[in-house]
Amino acid sequence: MDRFKFFREAIRDIKTAGTIFPSSRFLCKRMVKNIDYNTAKVIVEFGPGNGIITKHILKRIQPHTTLITFEVNDKFFESLEKIKHPQLIIEKVSAEEVTPILQKHGFEKADCIVSSLPFTNIPVEISDRILANAYDAMVDDGLFVQYQYSLTYYKKLKKVFKDKVKLSFELFNIPPAFVYIAKK
Ligand SMILES: C[S@@+](CC[C@H](N)C(=O)[O-])C[C@H]1O[C@@H](n2cnc3c(N)ncnc32)[C@H](O)[C@@H]1O
Repeated sequence: MDRFKFFREAIRDIKTAGTIFPSSRFLCKRMVKNIDYNTAKVIVEFGPGNGIITKHILKRIQPHTTLITFEVNDKFFESLEKIKHPQLIIEKVSAEEVTPILQKHGFEKADCIVSSLPFTNIPVEISDRILANAYDAMVDDGLFVQYQYSLTYYKKLKKVFKDKVKLSFELFNIPPAFVYIAKK
């Protein structure tokens, strides 16, 4: 799905999409650069949209790694299905379901979760559940990476990951974005 189609679908479903443009390549790179590709067995991605970050992860993963994506929008899901990659599993379910989906595919915990979920648009009881479930679904020392256009979620992440949250900033994105890099 190209940028124009993404734009059209994002406008149509703005509440779920939380943006109108896909992430820039600069933001994508920032989102995936801290993953330990040598050791990761399972990487999870929440809210892949048209797969722009997904493709950056697929470019870097080793043969022993599986990438599982969680996307709820029908059109984005259909476009993800066109990315044919033997190590990619695409699920059309909410990120809340991370643990049962990992188990369905024979995994217990994820080594890393990369999330583009628009947390500010998601009702707080659901976003809290997503974050709690994500934390439970990660291995000790696992990595959680999230971007946001404001800093409203920083405190929440610090509550969950304590002092293990680092903040970075990507100017070259529309709009510029903060990136949280948290460790369990
Ligand atoms: C801001 S867009 C990010 C798209 C893409 N990853 C990017 O960075 O350009 C957020 C995505 O999260 C998806 N989404 C929203 N709520 C979700 C949920 N509960 N579970 C899984 N995906 C969700 C939306 O459909 C949308 O594709």
